[in-house]
Amino acid sequence: MRWLELFSGIGGAAAALGARGEVVRAVDQSPYAGRVYRHNYDHPLESWNLAGVRKQQVAGADGWWMSPPCQPFTVRGNQRDLDDPRCRPLLRLLTLLPEVAPRALALENVATFRTSRARRHLLEVLDAAGYHHRELDLCPTALGVPNRRRRYYLVASREPLPPHPEPEQVGRPLSAYLDAEPDPSLYVEERLRQRYRHALPVVDADDPTAVTYCYTSAYGRSPVHAGSYVRDAQGVRRLSPREILRLLHFPETYALPPGLERARAWSLVGNSVSVAAVRHVLAPLLPR
Ligand SMILES: C[S@@+](CC[C@H](N)C(=O)[O-])C[C@H]1O[C@@H](n2cnc3c(N)ncnc32)[C@H](O)[C@@H]1O
Repeated sequence: MRWLELFSGIGGAAAALGARGEVVRAVDQSPYAGRVYRHNYDHPLESWNLAGVRKQQVAGADGWWMSPPCQPFTVRGNQRDLDDPRCRPLLRLLTLLPEVAPRALALENVATFRTSRARRHLLEVLDAAGYHHRELDLCPTALGVPNRRRRYYLVASREPLPPHPEPEQVGRPLSAYLDAEPDPSLYVEERLRQRYRHALPVVDADDPTAVTYCYTSAYGRSPVHAGSYVRDAQGVRRLSPREILRLLHFPETYALPPGLERARAWSLVGNSVSVAAVRHVLAPLLPR
């Protein structure tokens, strides 16, 4: 199938599709995400604002992947839902959907999207246009991955959807995702450890049952509520962007461009998707 990767970020959906689908065009207005995307993929990437996208610009593909901004549905983003201007690109795409009528589509968002007006509108558009759909609430921990990232997913198709396979256990213990020689600058200062000693989420690097919290775009900026730290023989440290990409199950061949600041990389990686989870979600739409 030929896919459009909309709100493509750093290309989590392209990584999940791999050789089982062809991305014919990716769209994201962020130049920073675009720089990382282009470093990894050859297919066309456009920096259009999807809030004003035209029919011809999204025509000609079999499938749409959409990862629209999640802030309208988060407490931190004030949960303004459809009244948030950041919903405009999704609304624009839903206006075009019945006319363009791709064979299939899939969407990812935060778990709270499920109770939103945006989700109700999405389902009304799909029903009116004759799509079959299935919603999933999936965390990579269900696939054995030691990282929480619970998300709302939807798959839709003009033909009836085959059942989802049982979740495949693709995860490994946390230690398998960590660098053998961590960068010394990742270790946190004693001052910060003391200040947040009751709040810092720390897991032991060699604990085979350790599960890390969801890494968000604020990792490295916010000491708490942005993802776990690991304790090893040298001390307590943050995970590198590379290690987080591994936890998200990006392939080892995926690379961050040289010179990309670590803070920027954390932000982009924290906005991305669990490739393992997306692969499971897309399974009924992909060739075996
Ligand atoms: C949740 S992130 C998607 C991340 C992506 N799935 C990945 O694997 O990295 C949402 C993306 O939508 C992009 N975006 C937000 N508003 C947009 C708009 N109006 N037009 C195009 N892209 C937009 C952001 O730049 C961001 O990369």
